[in-house]
Amino acid sequence: MDNPILELENVSVYYPGQRSLFKKPQLIQALYSINLKLHRGEILAIVGESGSGKSTLGKSIVGLIDNFYGNYIYNEQVYNPNEMNSLRKEIQIIFQDALSSLNPRMRIGFAIKEVIKLHHPEVDSEKQLLDLLKKVDLTKDTKEKYPHELSGGQRQRVCIARALAVKPNILICDEIVSALDVSVQAKMLNLLMKLMYEDGLSILFTTHDLQVVESFAHRVMVMKSGKILETGTVKDVFQKPINEYTRKLLQSIPEKM
Ligand SMILES: Nc1ncnc2c1ncn2[C@@H]1O[C@H](COP(=O)(O)OP(=O)(O)OP(=O)(O)O)[C@@H](O)[C@H]1O
Ligand SMILES: [Mg+2]
Repeated sequence: MDNPILELENVSVYYPGQRSLFKKPQLIQALYSINLKLHRGEILAIVGESGSGKSTLGKSIVGLIDNFYGNYIYNEQVYNPNEMNSLRKEIQIIFQDALSSLNPRMRIGFAIKEVIKLHHPEVDSEKQLLDLLKKVDLTKDTKEKYPHELSGGQRQRVCIARALAVKPNILICDEIVSALDVSVQAKMLNLLMKLMYEDGLSILFTTHDLQVVESFAHRVMVMKSGKILETGTVKDVFQKPINEYTRKLLQSIPEKM
């Protein structure tokens, strides 16, 4: 297999704890010695219960967490935490709550064009906008709409289009299908698969839905309490879990019909 596009080695991150008047805020550890490899064109799922650190991991990768320790290697180059912002063009993150990620007073077309103009001033932004809407299966007239005029699934597609406007190599999807109903979920996963195949995107996908993982990811990492319990191909982890917690998680999947 080729070298990973992204590698984390021994990464630990901390959140600032409660402030008090006389003491310095203490740091609370949220991730413990995380090792992660993401390959080109790979879909890697991160699973784990609520609070296990999935979102924190996604945010750490895009440089949204201040207290980051460990090695961060992108495209075989080592980055310091304060240099991770320079990777914005390479790595984009999308969150579950698409409505609050979009400016309510901005038409969709305007919002996406702003990103195109900022990151790729050389391209025809109107043409690029229409190409992006088509890519994520939204109709042309979506560009005239405001976020509240769209369904949850459509808004999520807008967020994907806006992230793609940057032309990233890695897309981090933080629980983006959790709030959607099952048929819309399946369409969204198909779209992500298409992006992976057609554009060679690497996708890091967090979810607590193991059925989604089974139908969609190449490899899976199981997290609990800020630690990685096991990593492997979906087949290996689902058929021969080595960790007791993973076994329990798998038992909670409803039997297939
Ligand atoms: N901004 C923050 N400040 C302090 N602690 C935080 C902050 N964000 C998250 N945490 C803590 O870090 C831990 C991991 O949270 P995180 O949101 O990464 O979990 P998660 O796996 O994404 O959960 P969920 O499935 O509910 O989205 C939790 O204990 C949480 O309380
Ligand atoms: Mg989360």
